[in-house]
Amino acid sequence: MRRQKYTPLFAFLLIALTLLLVAPGVTAQQAGRRAAATENELASRAAIAVMQAGGNAVDGAVAAAFMAGVVSPQSSGIGGGGFALVWLAEAQRGYLLDFRETAPQGVDAAAFERRPLGDAERGKYVGVPGEVAGLFELHRAHGKRPWKDVVEPARSAAKLGFPLGKFLASSLASQEKRLKVDATLASVFFPGGKPAVAGARVQRPLLGATLERIAAEGPKALYEGPIAQDIVDTARAAGGALTLEELRSYRPIERKPIEVSWEGYRVLTMPLPSAGGMMVAQTLRLFSKQELAKLGRESGAYQHLIAEAMRGSLADRMRHLGDGDHQKVDMDALVAEGRMAQRRKTIAIDRTHALPRFGLEGQGTHHLVTMDEAGNMVSLTTTVNRSFGAKLVTKSGIVLNDELDDFTAQKDVAPFALAQSPNRPRPGARPLSSMTPTIVLRDGKAVLGLGGSGGPTIATNVTQLLLDNLVFGLSPAEAVKARRFYVPSSRATILLEDGASEALKKDLAWRGEIVATMPFKSSAVQMIAVHQGRVLAASDPRKLGGAIVK
Ligand code: DON
Repeated sequence: MRRQKYTPLFAFLLIALTLLLVAPGVTAQQAGRRAAATENELASRAAIAVMQAGGNAVDGAVAAAFMAGVVSPQSSGIGGGGFALVWLAEAQRGYLLDFRETAPQGVDAAAFERRPLGDAERGKYVGVPGEVAGLFELHRAHGKRPWKDVVEPARSAAKLGFPLGKFLASSLASQEKRLKVDATLASVFFPGGKPAVAGARVQRPLLGATLERIAAEGPKALYEGPIAQDIVDTARAAGGALTLEELRSYRPIERKPIEVSWEGYRVLTMPLPSAGGMMVAQTLRLFSKQELAKLGRESGAYQHLIAEAMRGSLADRMRHLGDGDHQKVDMDALVAEGRMAQRRKTIAIDRTHALPRFGLEGQGTHHLVTMDEAGNMVSLTTTVNRSFGAKLVTKSGIVLNDELDDFTAQKDVAPFALAQSPNRPRPGARPLSSMTPTIVLRDGKAVLGLGGSGGPTIATNVTQLLLDNLVFGLSPAEAVKARRFYVPSSRATILLEDGASEALKKDLAWRGEIVATMPFKSSAVQMIAVHQGRVLAASDPRKLGGAIVK
């Protein structure tokens, strides 16, 4: 097989990139033209470097996603999958690519009823990875730089090494026992048996060699041949069912974004196989900007109304949503204005609906946003599901996802009186997601791009931060820092972020909310906004990310 040579310019950029220390600031808000907001500043630097070398926002996002998988492997990587929403400024259209993992034909549906599965069975959670096929298609359709140049920052970081970020360092320390179950994870991230510390240089030579082949040969390198065999063997050795044929035939799917016109904005957001966009669309259709603005962001009344909107969406999710290619789901009807007007009548300022239980957790997702000087924007969420996915690493250095854990168990739909979940495990299905890449347009220009990580908190966070910006005028830096809340799966009906005031708790309780608090540790939103011609970018301090505007 022929290996391509890397240009000196890129070699130089990469060395500069890997030598730069992670800057202490976690958010940025500067005027500029190109921007990147990611969960790891090294990924933002990769995006900016590729855009400065003549690439567009798509090249930047693809470079950042590859880099994210190297430097923040707890959250995403080439063993996972994701969704990308793009605003193409010149063509004046949105483009959305679904590269989510799919269940293999041999998926063991019964096993999902007895979760959590033990270590010997964690291969059952592994779906066919979509990341490389998706990034390749995204780049083929809309990128400008050569493919090998957008893979190069990640390849180089994996081979030459990179400074370990603080967030990953703290995950390694707190999850030591869980992560050491995989020998490759242990050898890379626990040198001498101890968790690597922030700032330590980490090399991932196996992954570097895999990325080198992907740079030279494209997705074939991963979906066929020895690397594909390695993925299949690793998943099957832990009870999984992936086959070579399923890897070979994996395809990303172009989909139509959900679009809502609201208060002079066009909001483009994520359709199935995610539930996230439905939540954004339903919330916007329930309330006017004026109604929310006059309540105020910090008021109990506002938080209660939004929580009620979320409860309605979560119930719809349980009852109706699953892979739309495996059953009919009428999303237009679910978000229809008439239906939302009816629902609005049932939402009261002083009463709370009950909602059956849902599940929460994880660090295994990375959202990133890029924007170029031509006004193109990419909002991309990539994931391996939980922290380090299935905690199975292939000989080729790939952290395999545990995405199939997003299928719903029968016991969880019982309270909804459903015989079967629309999101039950089925061969070839893509499990329902919460990931919510979103882009807001005004007068044909992208003015806001956002998305997040944090499992079921993603859609609730994205909805809140979208309103923070569009209704309450919070800048990205203010919005990512502001305290937020979650409508959860447990007995409590609203979970406020730690530190919420007693007055707010009392006010919500008066409205019938059962109030509790929680830390929002691994639930992070990235955001780029354009305000009066200025590009502002911010990365959520909760996951210690980095945003750059240049
Ligand atoms: O697609 C989903 O909704 C989940 N697999 C995302 C998991 C996640 O965000 C974990 N934590 N950050």
